[in-house]
Amino acid sequence: MTTSALRSPDNRPIRRVLGIETSCDDTAASVVDDGVTIVSSVVSSQIDLHATYGGVVPELAGRAHLELLTPVIADALARAGSDETGRGIDAICVTHGPGLVGSLLVGVSEAKALAMAWGVPFVGVNHLEAHLFASMLEQPDLGWPLVVLLVSGGHSMVVEVTEPGRYRVLGGTIDDAAGEAFDKVARYLGLGYPGGPVIDRLAREGDPKAFNFPRSLPGDGYDFSFSGLKTSVINTVRKNPEAATADVAASFQQAVVDVLVTRATAAAEEVGARAICLAGGVAANSQLREAVAEVAAGLGIGAFLPSRSLCTDNAAMVAAAGYWRLHHGDTSGLDLGVDPNLRLVPLA
Ligand code: KG4
Ligand code: ZN
Repeated sequence: MTTSALRSPDNRPIRRVLGIETSCDDTAASVVDDGVTIVSSVVSSQIDLHATYGGVVPELAGRAHLELLTPVIADALARAGSDETGRGIDAICVTHGPGLVGSLLVGVSEAKALAMAWGVPFVGVNHLEAHLFASMLEQPDLGWPLVVLLVSGGHSMVVEVTEPGRYRVLGGTIDDAAGEAFDKVARYLGLGYPGGPVIDRLAREGDPKAFNFPRSLPGDGYDFSFSGLKTSVINTVRKNPEAATADVAASFQQAVVDVLVTRATAAAEEVGARAICLAGGVAANSQLREAVAEVAAGLGIGAFLPSRSLCTDNAAMVAAAGYWRLHHGDTSGLDLGVDPNLRLVPLA
């Protein structure tokens, strides 16, 4: 990757960018060089704040971002040898959707204010696109095309990426996102929030074959569904109140992993992928990681499993995606709005 030709519209060379992420319940800021080198990455999670309610409470999230964002940015800047004057920062990249409207507004307003104060360009970044870029931060030389399984609390999709910023959504969930299914099942089982990590841990002690939960793969494409699975778990527990929670967790997780891996494998074969990549919070799931590594080895292709801190929400991935957007001449104006339902749109 060359950076010498990369310049902002006012001819300022862009190498070092500040990323800002506030789309859901993580307040994050990061300084990244050349789109790939993480200089600092700070994430302040609000999990404890929302855990009592069993899920993210939008009003509380927005207020917490307001309190946390300034210190989180200050920390990320200080760790990168900068300060509140933005010394050395060439541009700002901020998530402007999809996500919670109040939370997104906090990040976007801050990015605009800093861009004005520092006299640097800024660009709005799609949170989903940012997840797609997370893998490139650790392995910039992944071959193309890739099949990325983007599985988070809000979204679950199978995406073909032909090069950075160029992708095609092949399919995805027709109802619940994978993380949402983990969170809902965990809540039903009384395991707390967020559900993914706790089910992941508990499943290790259970029998994944104890219950044969449905694997829903509608149509001939790459879509999938988790709402029937969730209902089946609830009905099974109602009928078998004595069932060991670890067995339910293990059997549920096995069903989710089977569905995701079936679709990712078929997609990888069809597009001739050089590797299968995981992205999004559910990509932290240990069984999913093992299963993807195994099928990729079987296909004779690579498996890329980003470190857990890059799977869950962070601002380094926002900086990486924004860097590429800026590289393609994409900058935002002060009229940039937030879009809670922003869709994944490839670079033109
Ligand atoms: O990407 P992310 O941090 O936020 C969104 O953009 O949604 O993903 C959060 C989701 C939550 O639903 C959480 O339960 C799930 O990722 N998650 C996991 C694991 N760690 C986090 N799901 C399964 N296994 C895990 N180890
Ligand atoms: Zn996310």
